[in-house]
Amino acid sequence: VKFFLDTADLHEIEEAASWGALAGVTTNPSLYAKIGGKVSNFTEHIKRICSLVDGPVSAETVAMTRDEIIADGRKLAAIAPNVVVKIPTMVEGLAATRVLADEGIRVNMTLCFSAPQALLAARAGARYISPFVGRFDDISEDGLSQLQDVVSALENYDFTSSTARGERLEVIAASIRSAHHVTQAALMGCDIATVPFAVLKKMVQHPLTDRGLQAFLNDWKKVEASE
Ligand code: E4P
Repeated sequence: VKFFLDTADLHEIEEAASWGALAGVTTNPSLYAKIGGKVSNFTEHIKRICSLVDGPVSAETVAMTRDEIIADGRKLAAIAPNVVVKIPTMVEGLAATRVLADEGIRVNMTLCFSAPQALLAARAGARYISPFVGRFDDISEDGLSQLQDVVSALENYDFTSSTARGERLEVIAASIRSAHHVTQAALMGCDIATVPFAVLKKMVQHPLTDRGLQAFLNDWKKVEASE
């Protein structure tokens, strides 16, 4: 599994990139609002993220009709070579995805909550599909079993003739709330997990690591004292 950071925060991206395991970034309008982003600065901000990350950076459209989504998608894709256009899973989004994919523009279909949505997104040419996990859990449903349905349905088929540039379709486990979600996504064979910075920090931690490290440091002091 590869790790993307689910954020628009430049400090988080810089810090996570320095840990050596960051393969990309996903943003969305809510994440941009959270950092106090301005419409006038959006293009510059995405450009900056693209320069910090050696990997795909998803930038989301808020257009609602296929023609507007296509126009927006072309603009977003022109910001940097590693921009992926993030488009909601809806009829207009599917239609726009087909056109953009045929132009060689990579699309991440977002707000995907079911296997039928994912199968349609794949046939429409999405390069990435983002099934959401946590938002199911938020309404007391099982997000992980929904994710499993998506992964199992997609792995029955080869979508490379559909995607932009004939690249392999990849599933991004999204709306991740915990390290447990990441483990389960990896066990299912998800290609990517996009995680908030808070979850990434928790993934590094284990109480037995802390306890073991403390014991090693204490014992080393004994070794030094015995000189
Ligand atoms: C997907 O790429 C979205 O940005 C994100 O994972 C949504 O997560 P949330 O449900 O925590 O808002």
